[in-house]
Amino acid sequence: MHAIAINGSPRKNHNTATILKHALDGAASAGATTETVHLYDLNYKGCTSCFACKRKDTKNPGRCAMKDDLTPVLEKIMNSDVLLLGSPIYLADVTGEMRSFIERLIFPIISYDDYNKPVFSGKISSAFFFTMNVPQEIFQYYREFLESHPKTLERTLHGSSEYLPVFDTYQFNDYSKYAAAMFNETHKAKVKAEQFPKDCAAAFEIGKRLAQKE
Ligand SMILES: Cc1cc2nc3c(=O)[nH]c(=O)nc-3n(C[C@H](O)[C@H](O)[C@H](O)COP(=O)(O)O)c2cc1C
Repeated sequence: MHAIAINGSPRKNHNTATILKHALDGAASAGATTETVHLYDLNYKGCTSCFACKRKDTKNPGRCAMKDDLTPVLEKIMNSDVLLLGSPIYLADVTGEMRSFIERLIFPIISYDDYNKPVFSGKISSAFFFTMNVPQEIFQYYREFLESHPKTLERTLHGSSEYLPVFDTYQFNDYSKYAAAMFNETHKAKVKAEQFPKDCAAAFEIGKRLAQKE
């Protein structure tokens, strides 16, 4: 039983990484071995439309043919049981690095013969953790699009997939140094002290539950 966390934030010790750490701790509490990959440490690109993965004579069905730092990570994921993805929301979507990573993971296992029959024959349970600055009331504008990510994971990786939105995150270490009058530091500090620990606990439970299911 192996659980792998993919951090799509450039920051290794902030909101997204913290949430992922709790999710991995939950998986570990259920007996999983765990590891974290920070996407911003890697040199890679998104899909380049080479279509090697769609060739009839491909020797590696379901695998991306591009060779770069992401190649061993994608291979590890295919041999894992639980996939935990975390991304800050950048301009109402996941970060560019996370998006490129998803292209490389998912496009090779989408079949152009039959969209409903992905090439991957294994089963990986997954969860997506989205951290964002906006409060919960604004999430309605993001919901439909962000929910498409776990749906895609579920359809292509065959395991269950769920998501946890984490709202109103604390962005800066010191709000007084930034021109950010739209945000009330006192409110942000309160959310960080009261709600964020609950989000971390929820992430722990998700990691634990997914690892127990496998
Ligand atoms: C380039 C950029 C774009 C952002 N766009 C949004 C956005 O559209 N909506 C939102 O709620 N937060 C947005 N944020 C805030 C981050 O999503 C939020 O602070 C997140 O929790 C940061 O995660 P981290 O602490 O792991 O880096 C943006 C931040 C940056 C740097």
